[in-house]
Formats: sequence, structure tokens, C-alpha cells
Amino acid sequence: MKTELKQLLLEIDSFVSSGTTRSEILLNTCKLLKDNVYHYDWVGFYLLDEQNSNLILEVYDGKTTEHTMIPVGKGVCGQVAESKKLKVVQDVSQEGNYIACSLDVQSEIVVPILKGDKFVAEIDIDSHSPSPFTVDDEIFLTSVCQKLSVLF
Ligand code: SME
Repeated sequence: MKTELKQLLLEIDSFVSSGTTRSEILLNTCKLLKDNVYHYDWVGFYLLDEQNSNLILEVYDGKTTEHTMIPVGKGVCGQVAESKKLKVVQDVSQEGNYIACSLDVQSEIVVPILKGDKFVAEIDIDSHSPSPFTVDDEIFLTSVCQKLSVLF
């Protein structure tokens, strides 16, 4: 993994041990990632509302979105909530089960946060670049989500 990404992981460690609220830690993570990774244009966290089988947008950095509640199974976010597996969409125009947030978005990656083997939340990242995501993003964001899982 690139040194810059390793540095970001250390910053997330310091957020997690800062003693502030979960919401604040997640928001700081959104800002950190959006500001430091060129191809991350919108970064948000959806949390599972298990009773209603919905994902609720907790915090984000980027353009305002109307998709603050997404049913499990719907869109890329809902698919990841169901499969509990990371999903990369390099070209959103090719994804049948996709909820459009902004016409600027070309690609998306969603990574689950698991508590044990239970899905609790996910990080959703939209990009204005075509096919920007590499294995490095997958390894990096999986590590981010592992670190944040202690908050749930
Ligand atoms: N594109 C997502 C919806 C959320 S927005 O990207 C913020 C999806 O298909 O689930």
C-alpha cells in the first residue's frame, strides 16, 4: 500500500482513540478521505437499521444527496448490506441495480463494516473519474472499515 494511504490509516487510528462520539469519528474519516484521495469525490457512511431493513445515511462529505434512506437490497449500497461483500462499480452506467445520486458520478466503491460476521454499516465512495479503483483501494478501505468496526 502507498505510504500516503498508510499515513491516513494512522490518522484514523488516532480518531478512533480520541474518545469523541462515533458520529464525529465517522465524519472526520469522511473528510480525511475526501480531502486526501484525489478520486474520492463523495464519502459517506450508511448504518443498518435492522428493524426496518434500511440503510440510514449517518454522515458524509460531498454534495448533498436525497438518498438518506436506502432499503437493503436496493442500489449498490443495498446490495452490499445483503451480501456483506465489498463491491466496486467502475462504470455506474453498466450497473442495473444502481441509485443515481449525481450525474457527475462515474464510479463507486462500497465496503461493509462487519462486527464479527454481522453487517452493521458501510462506507460508500463515489468518484467522478472513470474506472479509478484499484486493489490498493480495496485493501485500504477494508482496513479502514476494520478499524472503525470497534465503534459498533
Ligand atoms: N449510488 C448509491 C446510492 C447512494 S449515493 O451514491 C450517495 C447506490 O446505488 O446504492
